[in-house]
Amino acid sequence: MSDLQRLFFALWPSAEQQQAWAESASHWLAGESGRFVKAENLHITLLFIGETSHERRHCLEAMADSVVAQSFGLSFDHVCYWRRPQVIYLGVKEQPRALEGLVSSLRRGAEACDLKTERRPFKAHLTLARKAKHPSSEINLQAIDWQVNSFVLVRSKLSQMGARYEVLRRWQLQ
Ligand code: 2AM
Repeated sequence: MSDLQRLFFALWPSAEQQQAWAESASHWLAGESGRFVKAENLHITLLFIGETSHERRHCLEAMADSVVAQSFGLSFDHVCYWRRPQVIYLGVKEQPRALEGLVSSLRRGAEACDLKTERRPFKAHLTLARKAKHPSSEINLQAIDWQVNSFVLVRSKLSQMGARYEVLRRWQLQ
């Protein structure tokens, strides 16, 4: 059996937020094609790590222990589409500096654990649907506010039923 675990750092909404946003998404996207993300899987990925050994997980957790970042507010203000990955997502126009600082710290820390990290600038998005076509009409929404006070390390288990996520650890922001 493989000892590798598929990991990523994320912002994880409460179960109530996940439920409310999934319900809203099912209204906004009624009739659209795609595989809708289940309520309990809704999140914002901060840093995707991939298949990881126990030793490296240990390094990543120790690194996250030393991350210092401020809590911040996020305001989702649009539903948007990315053509290449074929995803529909909730986006934010104003990306808080504290969030960018958090992602930079995680990227730097992961590199110190000998991992190659994403070079592209971080763009916060909460994926609502995958394998989707472009929504047939524009979706107008009232801003959805989220006060973010923590980040998490998540394990992803892939199966024929799709991904199942397990939150392994949580770190509070200041
Ligand atoms: P997403 O952020 O667009 O939703 C767990 O797989 C999470 O990590 C998903 O939310 C996924 O996409 C994100 N992710 C980023 N890069 C990935 C990659 N190379 N492989 C799989 N998932 C990735």
